[in-house]
Amino acid sequence: MSDLKKILINKNSACKSIWFMRQAGRYLPEFRNIRAENPNFINLCFNSELCCEITLQPIKRFDLDSAIIFSDILLVPHVLGQEVKFILNQGPNLDKFEMEKFLNNKKKKFTENLFPVYDAIRKTRKKLKKNKTLIAFVGAPWTLMTYMLGIKKNEVKLLENKKKLINQIIEPLTDYLCIHIKNQINAGADVIQIFDSWAGTLEDADLHDLCYSPNSKIVNYCKKNKIPTICFPKGIGKNYKNFNEKVKSDGLNLDYDLDPNWAKKNLKDVVLQGGMHPEILLKSDEKICMEAKKYLDIFRDVPYIFNLGHGILPETNPDKLDKLIKFIRKQK
Ligand code: CP3
Repeated sequence: MSDLKKILINKNSACKSIWFMRQAGRYLPEFRNIRAENPNFINLCFNSELCCEITLQPIKRFDLDSAIIFSDILLVPHVLGQEVKFILNQGPNLDKFEMEKFLNNKKKKFTENLFPVYDAIRKTRKKLKKNKTLIAFVGAPWTLMTYMLGIKKNEVKLLENKKKLINQIIEPLTDYLCIHIKNQINAGADVIQIFDSWAGTLEDADLHDLCYSPNSKIVNYCKKNKIPTICFPKGIGKNYKNFNEKVKSDGLNLDYDLDPNWAKKNLKDVVLQGGMHPEILLKSDEKICMEAKKYLDIFRDVPYIFNLGHGILPETNPDKLDKLIKFIRKQK
């Protein structure tokens, strides 16, 4: 935990450290301007100049404590051979998974194909003030496999059929994710967040093999390489306690369904982050500040990074975020 504390907490000892998931995104008019000229989202993710510029947009506007590199978890399956397309209002669409193609991937080529991401990190680190943290990220294996294998929410039956496939690819996929992590750190990232956005769709019986164990492998790899980690096993409810005790990441992002009082009581020896519902930002200033104060009061005496329980919604007014940040900065 100490590295993450040093990086994200102590630097900002006077007040809580603040950043937001999806802080660079569609709610910002300056992002929408760039996006309008770049209709192909994947191509945009491979444009290191623009990725650097987009990453810095929320830092310029709000002076946040951390930048998160503008990229996407789906670039990994994309460079592993499953072309990703974003169809408007439909979410991501991946080419059909082919085992042979997947197993034929080479590590050197994988790194070469992701070079623009590392270049964007290098460029961003150069422009970002020294006292700001640069966060890079990966999707956790289960979350990536839901997209790669087309596993739908609560498709438990199908999961049985797909288990063989999952067992064959989970290890090589995890190895590629570790390479991507190391490359991002070598390029200048300070912390890695591991997004397991679909962990909550797993049956309890599958959590060990498909959530705790793969997250644990990645976190252990990071520990060996002294890379601070923040995990986000979204939607697993009280299993956050098991996750924390098994995975032991430096940080843990709370989702909006989790009771923050329960989290404080049950999640020990870990830096907690986030939790507030992104929909709160659509409400009145008074409601926003009241809810933020709830989180600040609960986590007053423990290491806590202010963030949300999932990404900022596209319909959020950036002025509301500005007010929230100013409110948090005013609290001791
Ligand atoms: O947080 C940040 O500001 C950094 C950038 C970032 C993006 N995606 C940019 C993005 C990060 C950290 C992600 C992670 C990501 N991508 C996750 C895990 C976090 C989560 O949201 O649960 C997942 C599941 C994805 C996959 C993905 N990418 C989906 C499902 C979609 C479409 C729907 C949606 O959420 O917007 C994307 C597209 C995407 N990734 C956008 C952005 C800004 C919107 C693209 C657009 O402009 O249309």
